[in-house]
Amino acid sequence: MTQKSKVAVIGLGNIGTVVATNLVKGNRSVIIADRTIEKANELSKKLGTLAQPKDISAAIKEADIIVLAIYFDAIKEFFRTYAAELQGKIIVDPSNPIAPDEKGGFKKIIDKDQSSGQILASLLPKGAKLAKVLGTLGAASLSKAAFQQPDKAVQFYATDDGSINTEIEDLIRDNGFEPVRLGGMNQSIRIEVFGDLHEFGALGKTVTLNEAKQLVQPQ
Ligand SMILES: NC(=O)c1ccc[n+]([C@@H]2O[C@H](COP(=O)([O-])OP(=O)(O)OC[C@H]3O[C@@H](n4cnc5c(N)ncnc54)[C@H](OP(=O)(O)O)[C@@H]3O)[C@@H](O)[C@H]2O)c1
Repeated sequence: MTQKSKVAVIGLGNIGTVVATNLVKGNRSVIIADRTIEKANELSKKLGTLAQPKDISAAIKEADIIVLAIYFDAIKEFFRTYAAELQGKIIVDPSNPIAPDEKGGFKKIIDKDQSSGQILASLLPKGAKLAKVLGTLGAASLSKAAFQQPDKAVQFYATDDGSINTEIEDLIRDNGFEPVRLGGMNQSIRIEVFGDLHEFGALGKTVTLNEAKQLVQPQ
């Protein structure tokens, strides 16, 4: 078997913790990092030796795939801060461009026709590659639906760079899901909150591969 790309999860809140936990369940090693090493050390104690705590710079340096499990505005800042280190890396963006509204719900913080995926693609550090994935389900479903039997649940993804499909699909499978590529970043809006394929949008649930094929034409 060929060696798989090294993955780092940066940001160990709701989504980052579930992604790192799923990868360990999928027997894939993962570098974990947050703003403080203490958070990464703590999670590593729970997950065991497959989860290696590092500081952010070391995590970026050692990994080929960087899952940025932080908020949309924080990703924009992160791109500026680590532009040099991110050259040549595959960046995974699960972000949803939302913030709490005044009524106890959420509102979109960019124009309704815009997607965080397309905005981040336009700000991408030179030489980096971007995929929108792992943000289509809430953290609870991302955990609960992982490694579902007998038919796995789908994770849709979008990227403008078809050369990274294999890495992204391995990452999705090792998270316990079935990958379905929708196409380029112009499809990202469909898998962000309020989109027609999001758990908190028109779709409203997880789907299996057969169900997904009724909805989309995988690319
Ligand atoms: N929660 C969901 O159900 C859900 C579903 C789909 C997609 N998403 C998306 O996933 C992303 C993460 O959401 P979340 O709910 O996991 O957020 P969260 O629980 O607030 O966790 C974010 C984590 O990232 C850390 N962090 C923030 N900025 C950082 C930086 N520059 N470098 C390193 N670590 C940093 C935070 O540390 P501090 O505690 O020190 O701030 C925190 O540990 C967001 O883009 C969100 O839109 C979330």
